[in-house]
Amino acid sequence: MKYTFRAEYEKLLWAELSAEERELVELARKSAERAYAPYSNFPVGAAARLTDGRTFTGNNQENAALPSGLCAERTLLFYLGSQNLIANIEMLAVFAPKSPEPVMPCGSCRQVMYEYEHEAQREWILIFAGAAEYVYRFVGVKHLLPFAFVWRP
Ligand code: THU
Repeated sequence: MKYTFRAEYEKLLWAELSAEERELVELARKSAERAYAPYSNFPVGAAARLTDGRTFTGNNQENAALPSGLCAERTLLFYLGSQNLIANIEMLAVFAPKSPEPVMPCGSCRQVMYEYEHEAQREWILIFAGAAEYVYRFVGVKHLLPFAFVWRP
């Protein structure tokens, strides 16, 4: 038996995003300016919108012991987790000013997104942006990570 995965996403111009989506991308852009990325020189910002309209931001945090650093997405998501706010996330935006293409999250961040989205019990709107005039917009982490690791003892 042969199976196929299909990933759906939209390639959109900034102007085609909703006001809330644009605002979140803008917050991610500003957050990238506060990144601590002296080793890669590749700042990344992330922003999340909750169901009550509150927004939170994070950015990548690097370290001389290179593997000790953390991506913007997980810096933000783990903070929200630490505040018990995972269940309220509805939208996530990521911006990397030095990425010519919309930045796409690493596998570890996708795995964390997958589990938290499941906890939130709603598909997240995910917007990825870079220096390009267009962004990628996904609805649901399932489009980013087929065969996610799931462990529910
Ligand atoms: N990085 C992120 O923060 N998010 C991504 O989606 C891609 C990569 C960071 C990790 C590291 O600090 C730098 O970008 C270069 O890999």
